[in-house]
Amino acid sequence: MTPRDARERIRNAEHIAVLTGAGVSAASGIATFRGEDGLWRTYRAQDLATPRAYARDSLLVWEWYAMRFHKVMNAEPNPAHDLLVGLEARTADFTLVTQNVDGLHERAGSRNVQELHGNLTKSRCERCGNLDALPQGFSVPPHCSLCGSRARPNVVWFGETLPAAPFQRAVDAFEHADVALIVGTSAVVEPAASLGRLAAQNGAYVVEVNPEETPLSPFAHLSICEDAVTGLTRLLEEPPAY
Ligand code: APR
Ligand code: ZN
Repeated sequence: MTPRDARERIRNAEHIAVLTGAGVSAASGIATFRGEDGLWRTYRAQDLATPRAYARDSLLVWEWYAMRFHKVMNAEPNPAHDLLVGLEARTADFTLVTQNVDGLHERAGSRNVQELHGNLTKSRCERCGNLDALPQGFSVPPHCSLCGSRARPNVVWFGETLPAAPFQRAVDAFEHADVALIVGTSAVVEPAASLGRLAAQNGAYVVEVNPEETPLSPFAHLSICEDAVTGLTRLLEEPPAY
């Protein structure tokens, strides 16, 4: 199968499900987790992204998220995000499932976004669960605007369960997809990683865009070994006629 065949399939698809990972935000200057300069190369995940780490030193965890928040708020969506907005606009039934917590898909204009791992631009009250948008330069730890209790980062940590509704919508989308597009994820973190396999097992045409092979690659009908911007451009944009 070539990108040209895939373009045809995508053009004719009624149901498209997309799963994105940190690779989609790389061109916006947001570090991935497991790459050369990935976050997990410079920080120990167990020291910062687990409930135990937060219970042990909530200020350290909040300072780390405040640093990431600052980077995200000073980043812009990149053409990979924009290409997915365009695809959604011309698809009857489109679901964008993301593991990213940077909110860049929504800032780019994507509408049906299912955030499996939360969103670090918000805090979540430890007592009442209220979500507050974090202001630039917020002081740590932030407190709930409703009840005043301490709030935690609104992200899913290792060992925590994914938010039920977004995950169920993600499963439905990948179960019924005609085309499943997996972009910029190492496909090693479950249960998000299982979505590509689910789509393949249910007869979807699976396309992966990633400069590297992943555990999902054997399930892909087409693997475009490029970065997200180059790969999605090749996949979604008609080449010039000449
Ligand atoms: N374009 C496309 N893909 C890229 C690019 C790029 N410019 N740069 C890197 N990649 C690919 C890498 O080859 C890798 O497969 O993106 C993937 C990034 O993998 P990870 O860093 O593991 O990020 P992700 O898959 O999103 O991690 C999943 O793990 O730590 C948790 O909660 C965290 O949501 C995250 C989850
Ligand atoms: Zn509260």
